[in-house]
Amino acid sequence: MAEWWRSAVLYEIYVRSFADGNGDGVGDLPGIRSRLPYLRDLGVDGIWLTPFYPTPDVDHGYDVADYVDVDPRFGTLADFDALVADAHELGLRVVIDIVPNHTSDQHRWFRNALSRPDHPDRARYVFRPGRDGGPPNNWTSAFGGSAWKLDEASGEYYLHFFAPEQPDLDWHNEDVQSSFEEILRFWLDRGVDGFRIDVAQALFKDRSLADMNEPVPRTWHADWVTAINQPELHPLYESWRRVADEYPGERMFVGEIVLADQDAVARYVRPGQLNLAFNFTLLHEEWDAAAMRETIDRSRVAFDAVGAPATWVFENHDVVRLPTRYGGGEDGRRRARAAALLLLALPGAVFLYEGQELGLEEVEIPDELRQDPIFFRTNGARTGRDGCRVPIPWDGGPPSFGFTTGKPWLPIPDEWNALSVAAQQADDESMLALCRQALALRRRSPPLREGSFRWEPSPTGTLAFTRESGDSVACVVNVDADPVSLPEGRVLLATEPLVGRRLPRDAAVWVGLRP
Ligand code: NOJ
Repeated sequence: MAEWWRSAVLYEIYVRSFADGNGDGVGDLPGIRSRLPYLRDLGVDGIWLTPFYPTPDVDHGYDVADYVDVDPRFGTLADFDALVADAHELGLRVVIDIVPNHTSDQHRWFRNALSRPDHPDRARYVFRPGRDGGPPNNWTSAFGGSAWKLDEASGEYYLHFFAPEQPDLDWHNEDVQSSFEEILRFWLDRGVDGFRIDVAQALFKDRSLADMNEPVPRTWHADWVTAINQPELHPLYESWRRVADEYPGERMFVGEIVLADQDAVARYVRPGQLNLAFNFTLLHEEWDAAAMRETIDRSRVAFDAVGAPATWVFENHDVVRLPTRYGGGEDGRRRARAAALLLLALPGAVFLYEGQELGLEEVEIPDELRQDPIFFRTNGARTGRDGCRVPIPWDGGPPSFGFTTGKPWLPIPDEWNALSVAAQQADDESMLALCRQALALRRRSPPLREGSFRWEPSPTGTLAFTRESGDSVACVVNVDADPVSLPEGRVLLATEPLVGRRLPRDAAVWVGLRP
């Protein structure tokens, strides 16, 4: 299909937590490779791999010490090539994470930068003198505290929007720009189908370094961060797109752009720039029909206006798992199933997070086992993201569940026995079975993949829309209303048993409509 990414379903693999091939308790590339048939059978179009580069692991791979190699814990470049070859053989695209906003403090460039103030690599970072005996301005780190750290040897501060071990690059520096073009080409030459760009709205900083006014409490999005979302980014992404377009096979970029203003996000996916941008608005919405409808419309209108597909995300490695956000337990289970049918019926590209297809809940990790820098840098005030990063329970039961032959890097709850891949494969009513059926239907249904979108009248507390391309498919979601009647047609898939052709609350259905 032309421009495959427009309606693709990409499956996020959190590399540390998917499958471990060498028994050290941490997931790796050979482990992933051995599980590719599972993903083919699930029916996704491709995978997005979180960073697997050499890393001191301060932010679990988002602190990169070398952009053109594989960390020995995750494998080798040969393992990467074999993974790409196998994935392509199975018809799966491979998208990798690129982390251009910051490096690790162990990257050669930063070590050079600290070695002496006149080293040319120092200009790749943002070093500035302090102000009034403190940091140069009031910018704060997303992980807590000031965004500046003093380099005692020189008396200057350097900028870090995340951990101090993740110094921000200065994108106004031309060496930074040319190095990243080489890095993109290195991976494009190895056959990757695209890149997920980390913190894609933040690469250039406001040159004036003006102070910011932060809302208290801080919000999930960064619209208020006047230091970022700078105009220089657009020509940069145009140049990246030109690089990718030199390669055959429709390589693509998806930007992690954490802004609530969807018109601002859409400016990054205008023709000739990025192909896709994450849309996190739905992910931060309550299980509330009116709010979800409003959010869906805001995104559709903004992306339609620039001719780009919307993207839809309900889970990733940075947020509390969906069944838990939606109430947990039986409520969470039902709502997660309904949300899956909503997600896979919306027009545009979809990102699924590993374990979402199993309905996994957030795990309460004991403090002494926590790993996320957010927990440590806020002195425990924010628990961090470990609870959504627990390894996948494949089979064989506790404690390692076939994830590893060793000890999983985060403990897998015993109760996940009932949710393991093996258990769900044996159960036609499982979340895994539902996701497989939905993905198979979406794959062979022109309306669901590329059809037009229209809201249908429906009672308060419900969502109903039709996708049409020759045939039509209706998606009805009963969020919190009395049982609702369904349109005439054939029920293709329902998340709960219907009560005399009525859809109960916390449930969703797809109906094939007669032309
Ligand atoms: C966004 C990533 O998803 C998150 O995991 C990471 O901590 C930050 N960017 C910093 O790289």
